Amino acid sequence: MTERQARAHAGGATQFRIRLERPDGIYSFDGAADEYLLYAMIDAGIGSPYICEQGWCIACAARLLAGDVDRSGALTVYPEDVEAGFVLLCSTMPRSDLVLRQDERQTRRDMMQHRIEHNRLARAYPPGARSRFRRGRAAARIDTPDDHS
Ligand code: FES
Repeated sequence: MTERQARAHAGGATQFRIRLERPDGIYSFDGAADEYLLYAMIDAGIGSPYICEQGWCIACAARLLAGDVDRSGALTVYPEDVEAGFVLLCSTMPRSDLVLRQDERQTRRDMMQHRIEHNRLARAYPPGARSRFRRGRAAARIDTPDDHS
């Protein structure tokens, strides 16, 4: 059992099976309901581009082909992104088994182009957003009651 799995088990977090399709093959890993997909991937030995870890820079963009997710951890998420199936791995948690597609060199560009086409290219942080969004692995758990005990 990995450290992540042990942590998820101890906390009782629901685990989901994630299938990731990439140009070089198909990967599978488990993702906990209280952990962002990026970190579950890293723990499973699957690398992904990332920079901001806040759902801002879109370096970690992927496409959701099947399943439900919680995108609320992202600094920027637009209805057009959701409609087109884009997810930001650093700030998205699974809510069911998932099928994702990511081309590490192309998906970010596709999402950027999509946002340009929909006039959704954010050039500045949303007002007041800095204090609400936290960076990194622990961000998903920062406001859970267990963290304050
Ligand atoms: S690392 Fe910046 S949006 Fe995910």
